[in-house]
Amino acid sequence: MLKNPTPQHIAQVVALYITGSAVIVWLGIEWLRTMVLFPWGVATIVMCIAIFTAAYFTTIYYLRKYIYRKIKLIYKTIHKHKLTSQEKTKQIDVTVNIIDEMEKQVAEWAEKQQEELDKYKAWAEYRRNFVGDISHELKTPIFNIQGYLHTLLDGALEDEQVNRTFLTKAAKNLERLHTIVEDLEAISRLESGALMLEIQTFDIRELTEEVFEDLEFKAEQRNIRLELKDGAAQGFKVQADRESIRQVLTNLVHNSIKYGKENGRTRVGFYDMDSNILIEIADNGLGIPKKHINHVFDRFYRVDKSRSRERGGSGLGLSIVKHIIEAHKQTINVRSAPQLGSTFGFTLKKSKGD
Ligand SMILES: Nc1ncnc2c1ncn2[C@@H]1O[C@H](COP(=O)(O)OP(=O)(O)O)[C@@H](O)[C@H]1O
Ligand SMILES: [Mg+2]
Repeated sequence: MLKNPTPQHIAQVVALYITGSAVIVWLGIEWLRTMVLFPWGVATIVMCIAIFTAAYFTTIYYLRKYIYRKIKLIYKTIHKHKLTSQEKTKQIDVTVNIIDEMEKQVAEWAEKQQEELDKYKAWAEYRRNFVGDISHELKTPIFNIQGYLHTLLDGALEDEQVNRTFLTKAAKNLERLHTIVEDLEAISRLESGALMLEIQTFDIRELTEEVFEDLEFKAEQRNIRLELKDGAAQGFKVQADRESIRQVLTNLVHNSIKYGKENGRTRVGFYDMDSNILIEIADNGLGIPKKHINHVFDRFYRVDKSRSRERGGSGLGLSIVKHIIEAHKQTINVRSAPQLGSTFGFTLKKSKGD
């Protein structure tokens, strides 16, 4: 009966039950009194007890039924896991203030929901900004390529003086586009968590020398020496994803060449820090002004936009580096002074076998 009662329905039913049981009890006592000759006083007491008991249990039965129905729905919504029947009865213990308890639980639930919503909003905002940044970054080289090609088509192609230069410039901008897209790919892989680190033990010094070899040509163009610091003769075995760390070293050494002084030098040092190895890449180049230093790891952030672009940078190199180091649960930092140079340092877990 009463499939989905309102409080009014319940009150009506309870009143009906109480009246009914009162009448029955009354008639029963009247009967007993005439049969056994109960005195009035005793009859009244028995009647009161009987009616009170009937009223109490009827009320509690319906309240429980009603509140339980409603509360069960709320519990179902806020608790993802299924409650056992024991837990359910505990949750609606009628001797405590269940409404207060419910309110508390709903408030906690709402807070948790709000946190998730905030996280989601921040993520959405991040994505919006990211897409905005990307289109902005892509526009510049595309615009340049368009300009060079149209100028060539409009007649410059026949002009021996400029045709090669314009084509070379268009090609350079295409290379920039390529770098940006590749870096974007790396960033999105890192941010989606799709990068599975393949942790292995390797010699960080050997890897650094490999990176030096790859970048030798670029360093020669600016007459920058790539060297290991004194005391780095000993190699260090670290535990990390070798290919990701190659990317880290490549980006950092490449930056030291791009933003280094001509005829300068880049020095890499390794320091034993008990459970970690600190790797430092130091140049004696441009340096980074203080107000920019906290931002160099932000994506698309450049201290000097024109210099970075001219050298083919995407502004993503250091954010990739930071992502990789953080994926290893390690840290990276930078010290720098304008005109003196910059030192980027990151840690890696030292191999136990070493
Ligand atoms: N070794 C360095 N010396 C001076 N400035 C640097 C150095 N490395 C990075 N920077 C600054 O930080 C910015 C961000 O670096 P990065 O993310 O690698 O982007 P990109 O090299 O593509 O410009 C650079 O544009 C540059 O201004
Ligand atoms: Mg870079």
